[in-house]
Amino acid sequence: MLLVAQRKEPLLTSFQIIEATDAGVTNAELCAFYAKHWARPIALSREDFCAWQMTAAPGAGGRNRSVLAIEADQIIAAIGVTPAAFTFLGKVRAAAELTTWVVAPEARGKGVGKAILAHLQARHDVLAGAGITGAALPLYLGAGFTFLAHLPRFFHIADVEKVQAFAAVSDLARQVTARRQANARRVPWQSRPVAAADLAPMAASLSPFGHFSRDADRLAWRHDQHVAFHYEAFAVADPARKGSGAGVVLRQDVVEGVPILHVIDLFGGLGHVPAALGFIEHEARRRGAAFVDISLTAGPLVAQLRARGWTSAVDDPLIELPALFYPVELRRPPTTSMVVWGRHSPERLYDFSRLHITRADMDLDRPTLSWYQKQASGTEGGN
Ligand SMILES: CC(C)(COP(=O)(O)OP(=O)(O)OC[C@H]1O[C@@H](n2cnc3c(N)ncnc32)[C@H](O)[C@@H]1OP(=O)(O)O)[C@@H](O)C(=O)NCCC(=O)NCCS
Repeated sequence: MLLVAQRKEPLLTSFQIIEATDAGVTNAELCAFYAKHWARPIALSREDFCAWQMTAAPGAGGRNRSVLAIEADQIIAAIGVTPAAFTFLGKVRAAAELTTWVVAPEARGKGVGKAILAHLQARHDVLAGAGITGAALPLYLGAGFTFLAHLPRFFHIADVEKVQAFAAVSDLARQVTARRQANARRVPWQSRPVAAADLAPMAASLSPFGHFSRDADRLAWRHDQHVAFHYEAFAVADPARKGSGAGVVLRQDVVEGVPILHVIDLFGGLGHVPAALGFIEHEARRRGAAFVDISLTAGPLVAQLRARGWTSAVDDPLIELPALFYPVELRRPPTTSMVVWGRHSPERLYDFSRLHITRADMDLDRPTLSWYQKQASGTEGGN
């Protein structure tokens, strides 16, 4: 007997799919929708954050391009959309970073979410989003997206005593990690603090990878003009090599009294990457950080992290560090997931090792409301 799954709810046909600004919906109304319906308190429920992430993004043209479902003048669903250029196989494609997709509970299971994805796919060549929930995954997969369950994340231990604030590190783990890290090749490096926008020339090295644009406008918006976080950008080079060197974007934080360092972006000629990593490891020690971490997909960069003895949060079981800090939360494995969809050459686009995705992409480095509260009370945070 053939069993056919029955839809519990009838399809909802009376809604309209429309961009926020086109619908006359203000950022304040969108923030209120997120505050009401997103399970956790999120920064996107703040008008200043919403204006930065959506309206001020270089590709948005001063409009909020988030996609909504409206029924009887009420928002019944929303997905955050940051338009961005995506360079892939030598062509610049219309793309968007997706975030915070929610259908009001009473409207779920009626085809609204599916209609939102179809609307986005009709208007873009590449779509990507991170932190995919179990509820959303079947919809993404059904619409032709591919899924990466664990975004690669690596860390370098700078001070194992301080790391104990976040993880119990056994003697064995301590010895093995120290030995791996000590084997890293010593490379001379020169570094210079710059505005993130000045790193655009180094982004030319990204051409072998599929990647979101890192032109000066985008780098300025993402890092120099971020609404909450303070980012530090550096041009780093191996003085023995030719070329424009590497771009590094860092964010220092202080969690439960312990400094930590996040690498938000790293790109540059592959020959300069060991110098950039040497600089990053040095910075972590100079700042008294417990550890420095990085999330990225590009295979050749991942190989260099492995060669320098950085610990994989996904593959190496020795030390487990949290991925979320406000509040501190250990997920297993301590990283996040992502989806990607491409209209053209998916058989090439879906090779994650040939994509350059870092925490500078999508909203992978976003403050939580708990972070804002700690800032306001002056108890935590590195800014
Ligand atoms: C994930 C979410 C956005 C999906 O939106 P939705 O409007 O409920 O999804 P849809 O109704 O369009 O579902 C489409 C598909 O899901 C399945 N589905 C959803 N509800 C169903 C139901 N009640 N019965 C049977 N199938 C159902 C079906 O496969 C359907 O495809 P079909 O039309 O080919 O049958 C929504 O569940 C939500 O807001 N969840 C909470 C927040 C969240 O997890 N967001 C995602 C962040 S990444």
